[in-house]
Amino acid sequence: MNKGFPSDFLEQVRNRNDIVDFASRYITLNRRGGNFWACCPFHNEKTPSFSIKPDGQFYKCFGCGESGNIFSLAMKLENIDFITAVEMLAKNAGLEMPSYADNAELQRQKKERETMFKILKYTAEFYHNNLINNPQSAQAKYLQTRLMNAEMIKKFQIGASLNFEDLPKYLLKSGFKEEEIIKAGVVGKNEFNKLYDFYGGRLMFPIFNGFGDVVAFSGRSVDANPEHAKYKNTPQSPIFNKSEILFAYNFARELKKQHMLDSLVIVEGHIDVIMCHQAGINNTIGCMGTALTSLHARKIKQLVDNVILCLDADGAGNAATYKAIDTLKEVGLNVRVVRLVGAKDPDEYIKKFGKDKFVEFLENSIDCVDFVLQDSAKKYNLNSNIGKNNYVNEALNYISKFSSPAEQEIYLKVVQNLVKIPLDALRKSLTEPKYKIKEQEAEQAESIKNKSIIDAKILILSALLYKKIKNFEDFKGVFQSDDELSKLYDYLLNKAKNNADYSVSAIFDTFEITPNSLLDKVINYAFPEDNLLNSMLSDATKRLKLFNLEQQKSNYTQLMMQSNSNEERYKYLQKIQELTVQINKEKM
Ligand code: UTP
Ligand code: MN
Repeated sequence: MNKGFPSDFLEQVRNRNDIVDFASRYITLNRRGGNFWACCPFHNEKTPSFSIKPDGQFYKCFGCGESGNIFSLAMKLENIDFITAVEMLAKNAGLEMPSYADNAELQRQKKERETMFKILKYTAEFYHNNLINNPQSAQAKYLQTRLMNAEMIKKFQIGASLNFEDLPKYLLKSGFKEEEIIKAGVVGKNEFNKLYDFYGGRLMFPIFNGFGDVVAFSGRSVDANPEHAKYKNTPQSPIFNKSEILFAYNFARELKKQHMLDSLVIVEGHIDVIMCHQAGINNTIGCMGTALTSLHARKIKQLVDNVILCLDADGAGNAATYKAIDTLKEVGLNVRVVRLVGAKDPDEYIKKFGKDKFVEFLENSIDCVDFVLQDSAKKYNLNSNIGKNNYVNEALNYISKFSSPAEQEIYLKVVQNLVKIPLDALRKSLTEPKYKIKEQEAEQAESIKNKSIIDAKILILSALLYKKIKNFEDFKGVFQSDDELSKLYDYLLNKAKNNADYSVSAIFDTFEITPNSLLDKVINYAFPEDNLLNSMLSDATKRLKLFNLEQQKSNYTQLMMQSNSNEERYKYLQKIQELTVQINKEKM
């Protein structure tokens, strides 16, 4: 569907622009081998891991994993949406844009987004003016009790919804339509068909995307009525995705641009973020009470290599800390941890002990693995032999997952300090077979088999994509599931059938390629030299054929067992026998 554009038009735009030329306007590229290399514009790095393949016309960063074609590169470098990127590149190439009149859907989407951004901007200004102009309002008074200063109120565009009526009136008067303001998530309609401010009476915190546009709101209740949820948030929308947005990320991005950012502090609440900024800790961002996702983690890695996690002091915060450590480490971040004592969150800590103490507290953060080892020790009585034993068992299990002996050594010392068992003894214990990775054997065999099938599929698809082979029909039975690989196969098959040419860079318009996904592997397959490749291809083909035959056989076996008619059963049995013969032949 190509996001609404005719695909031959996109193909033309791509063919008439060169990704290397385009990228070199923004970054310095160096040629090495057949590719061009640079420091990645999307994450912080000192040695170049961003590569562009001129023949494939796509880029991939081996540091942060981002990849894409000229359209996604233009979108990111210029901070523009897809349509604008296509417009810009078409203009570069002297191509006439297809008329939007032909493309109502595209036009509608573009307009809907623009209107949504505009409504949220108007709403944020409206709320902010309410707060500034009504210092006696309940919302303004509540804010005073939180000790937030005027500078922060301005920086974060904090506002007030004074009642349920004013906002819809204001927005309608500003020329927006009823359905537009409802869709934007700021206005609702009650059972009497009356429009009302969705956040009526609340203290309002706009939520910005990375570029500083308002994409949502979080409204805090200022009364003590327990029936009112503490916070009311904008639902997901085309411009607001909770698992991707981080509070105050826009300010972090600004700092990064000014080369004033080398680490980020991650806290839970908006008010915590704001109070940290007020205390001068401007590199604080918030996860807004949700679990950190890998999307969040990747966005963070684009700005920094080091983070300090400072989640709430409650039990939920502890569990969230463990999960967040995994998510953040996965993208290669160095994670340090602090656990609050004497206050439930950073806001309360700063109020109680002052900002200097909080800064000092952050400076005493500990490495996340140290944290896990120390924190899990709290469950055991280390003065008893049995407690010590159980703890050592848990700790060694954890440490055994690190593949580098140097890392293992560092963490063994942490355990040694806690249990006072000689390091040599711990080292020796770690080599016991029970600490070797010990998944169920059957499960392991199964997963190895699955993996080899997936590897074979990746190789074959990549070879089809790069036109190293052309025998599409041989693999028809293999790519029949609902996964991304099968979708790519169908896409390529369809092109091949219609004798349409297909290019690697076009894939990025139709498929979402996330780092380390199966499709990412297909596109970035490193082919060996021809001899080896040929034998790999014939091996993979054989494996897939066999896999396909075995699947068919198991399907027929199941059908046979379920059938009540002798005639049918006989028919299935014949099929099974045929397949068995074929399988044996393939195996030879
Ligand atoms: P907290 O309950 O810790 O709130 O939730 P807070 O930020 O400390 O706010 P105050 O200080 O009590 O006023 C942390 C975050 O979880 C989200 C909000 O983003 C909040 O900042 N949250 C919490 C909700 O979205 N809804 C809720 O009802 C509660
Ligand atoms: Mn809190």
